[in-house]
Amino acid sequence: MCGIVGYIGYREAYPVLINGLKRLEYRGYDSAGIALLDNEPAIFKCVGKVSDLENHINDNPKTGHVGIGHTRWATHGEPNDVNAHPHQSMHGKFILIHNGIIENYTELKEKLGNRGYTFNSQTDSEVLVNLIEFIYQKGKVDAEMAVRLALNKVEGAYGIVVMCADEPDKLIAARKGSPLVIGVGNDEYFLASDATPIVEYTKSVIYLNDQNVAVITQGELVLKTLKNIPLTPNIQQLSMDIGEIDKGGYDHFMLKEIFEQPRSIHDTFRGRINLAERTLHLGGLYHVMPKIVEAKRIIIIGCGTSWHAGLVGEYLFEDLARISVEVEYASEFRYRRPIISKGDVVIAISQSGETADTLAAIRLAKEAGALVLGICNVVGSSIPRETDGGVYTHAGPEIGVASTKAFTAQVTVLAMMAIQVGRKRNFLTDDQYQRYIQELTQVPEKIEKILKLDSTIHKLAEKYKDVNNFLYLGRGYLFPVALEGALKLKEISYIHAEGYPAAEMKHGPIALIDHHMPVVVLATKDHSYDKIVSNIQEVKARKGIIIAVVSEGDTTITGLANHTIEIPETEMVFSPLLAVIPLQLLSYHIAIMRGCNVDQPRNLAKSVTVE
Ligand code: M6R
Repeated sequence: MCGIVGYIGYREAYPVLINGLKRLEYRGYDSAGIALLDNEPAIFKCVGKVSDLENHINDNPKTGHVGIGHTRWATHGEPNDVNAHPHQSMHGKFILIHNGIIENYTELKEKLGNRGYTFNSQTDSEVLVNLIEFIYQKGKVDAEMAVRLALNKVEGAYGIVVMCADEPDKLIAARKGSPLVIGVGNDEYFLASDATPIVEYTKSVIYLNDQNVAVITQGELVLKTLKNIPLTPNIQQLSMDIGEIDKGGYDHFMLKEIFEQPRSIHDTFRGRINLAERTLHLGGLYHVMPKIVEAKRIIIIGCGTSWHAGLVGEYLFEDLARISVEVEYASEFRYRRPIISKGDVVIAISQSGETADTLAAIRLAKEAGALVLGICNVVGSSIPRETDGGVYTHAGPEIGVASTKAFTAQVTVLAMMAIQVGRKRNFLTDDQYQRYIQELTQVPEKIEKILKLDSTIHKLAEKYKDVNNFLYLGRGYLFPVALEGALKLKEISYIHAEGYPAAEMKHGPIALIDHHMPVVVLATKDHSYDKIVSNIQEVKARKGIIIAVVSEGDTTITGLANHTIEIPETEMVFSPLLAVIPLQLLSYHIAIMRGCNVDQPRNLAKSVTVE
């Protein structure tokens, strides 16, 4: 979390930095700051959003061709002006922005304290900038060496950019665990936590690897390891387009991303499905497919919404490919001494490709000898670079903190994988294989139809926007969707919501049901339809308010529920892709009506790069 930007070149740095911070604000929005180096360093920072920073510095001079900026998601120290980045060292020599956590900062702080250093903030980052200065002054080394030596003493994660007052035409950047991308222009360089602030200036980028240091002067970039071994920069071309990171006429990124789903799902299967032959080809798995086909067990790991997609994956792989699946929270998996065998296939799911726990979990699985695959959205992010193979979701940049189109793209990839593996393991006949492929291509059109229900869902939101609790129920493939619906509502509207397997309701949550409790039931036509009708009766008997998502033409549930949302029929295996759409819209409208910031919900960040 936290977003960092840097610029060195011939332009005025301020507009590049402030616009970059706006693009990165989804990573954290507790405070923001900018430092420019124009003979003398000038630092502007304040608690609040990037717009607050803009207002704060409006009347101040802001010139300089070298600068850095930061938008913070607080870890050490509450969000306030002093804890905001950039941080300056005690004697004013160094200014630093940092994304990550310095785990041994207490010990380093104490040592620096013994040498006369005092600290203004409660942050770990201020300790690092002072450590750099201490080494610089005591060791009489240059700025770059001071940074490298300091980083050798640091435990934890960092993406940093550093400026030195004595070497004003230079930026020093380094990473370990937190992402950092360098944009390479003509006689100018851009740095950022992801490529979104860079793409409008250049498409040539270098993704920094762990323990890499980049020393950038006007017109020159030198890449090396922390141990001073020179490296050849690997310049890659971004495929992202600037239009993809604008709101495109929608009021919020979240709404835009919900409405983009027909296209993002299509983009996810496009090029992988041959419709004429009704076959599938997953290029990123080609070389590892025999191992997946032979797998005794699949372990899927992820966090939040990606974990929910993983749960759908469990149903898919067990159902279509008959492989036993375990779905794990990355944070629990990595610390549990899990039993991983060489024949296991581990699939890490992550929109950002940077989630710290998921990244640590795949490293553990790799060490244990498992085949590790990734399903990620951000091209070039850490997880795809550390896995043995994988499939990108091609959902395009997801800026809203609440995950929407990433979820459906992840489920699309998992479905394609399960169908492919199922056919290769002979658990699907040719006919079934082709039928599934054919039906998947129909999903975008069916979602278009559901999106037309937006105004109906808006009315529903008006009715229930003021309640304090919501319950979401689903069975089978729709149980993970119930969890996802509840997560969407709570994270953006701050209404307490719980998702449950519908049959579990009787084992506790039923006690909560009264005439104040809206219960969203996912009840499309599948093999457990009769069972879910019984669950609806149970809710009704306790006077709960039933909002049912049903298949088009359903009359049974329509007669029982207070409200029904009809969605097109599809193969059961694809039902999560359709059923989740009304839940996303319901959460969005309720949150807007409650005056919440849907794109940047409180306390959250898009990319959780701390554990
Ligand atoms: O980038 P990742 O998919 O690894 O992120 C995992 C979670 O942090 C993320 O899905 C989170 O739960 C979303 N805000 C939910 O909408």
